[in-house]
Amino acid sequence: MGRNVVVTGGGTGIGLAVARRFADAGDDVVIVGRRREVLRQAAELLGPKVRPLPCDLADPDAVEGLVDQLPRRIDVLVNNAGSREVAAGAGPHALVARWRGDFERNVLTAVLLTETVRDRLTTGQGRVVTVSSIAAIRGAGSYGASKAALHAWNHFLAAQLGPSGITANIVAPGTVAGTEFFGDRLNESELVRRAGRTLVGRVGEPDDVASAVFFLSSPEAGYITGEILHVNGGEILGR
Ligand SMILES: NC(=O)c1ccc[n+]([C@@H]2O[C@H](COP(=O)([O-])OP(=O)(O)OC[C@H]3O[C@@H](n4cnc5c(N)ncnc54)[C@H](OP(=O)(O)O)[C@@H]3O)[C@@H](O)[C@H]2O)c1
Repeated sequence: MGRNVVVTGGGTGIGLAVARRFADAGDDVVIVGRRREVLRQAAELLGPKVRPLPCDLADPDAVEGLVDQLPRRIDVLVNNAGSREVAAGAGPHALVARWRGDFERNVLTAVLLTETVRDRLTTGQGRVVTVSSIAAIRGAGSYGASKAALHAWNHFLAAQLGPSGITANIVAPGTVAGTEFFGDRLNESELVRRAGRTLVGRVGEPDDVASAVFFLSSPEAGYITGEILHVNGGEILGR
C-alpha cells in the first residue's frame, strides 16, 4: 500500500522534485503552497497520485481550514516551504519586518502544520522531514537564524515523537539551482562562484535534496532521528 505524503512548497523547485520522487514510488502525495495555479500545474505534471491544496502555511486560520482536506493518516510530512526575504530597507522597521517575515516563512510554516497534524502521523512508521539550509550553520542574517531555529525545534520534536516510533529529521541543502529561491540573483558568475565553494565543483539540483528526503522518509531510516543531513557538496567543510 502506498504511503500518504504531504509536501509543503511542493509546487516548485525542491518540493516539486520531492513530490515527484514519492509519486513515482506509488505514494499518494498532497502538495501545499500559496499559489493555486502553480500547484495545479505541478499536479498535472506529476499525475493522478498528486493532489494540490492551496494554503498560506504561515496563517493559522488558513492552516486550520486546510486540516479537513488532509489525509486522516499521514505517513510522511515534508516541511519544505520557505523563502528568504531580500527586501532592502534600512532602519528598525525594515529590520523587524525582515526578521519577522523570515521567521514566519521558514519556522511558523513548519511548526504550525506539524503541530496541527501531529496526531495523524502514523504510529510506528511516521516520518517528519524538514528542509533547513546551510545558512543555519554559516549564517545569513534573519534567514539563517530562522533556519537554525528549525534545528532546535526538530530536536525537541524528535524527542516528543520518538516514543511513538515516529522520526523527525532535517535536510540542510547548500546552493540548489533550478528553483524559484534566488529569483534572478543566481546568474552565471554567481553559479560559478558558488560551485567553486563546494568540494565537488558544482551546485546542487533539486533531485540531490529529494534523494536525501526520500531516504530519511523510508522504512530503512527508522533508527535515524533528531539528525541534520547536510546536502551541500562539501561546501560546509570549506576548501
Ligand atoms: N534553493 C536553494 O539554494 C536552497 C538552499 C537551502 C535551503 N533551501 C530551502 O529549500 C526549500 C525549498 O526552496 P526552493 O529552493 O525549492 O525554492 P522555491 O522554488 O521558492 O520553493 C519554495 C516553495 O515554498 C512555498 N511557500 C513559501 N512560503 C509559503 C507559505 N507561507 N505557505 C505555503 N507555501 C509556501 C512556495 O510556494 P508559494 O510561493 O506558491 O507559496 C514554493 O513552492 C526552502 O525552505 C528553502 O529555504 C533552498
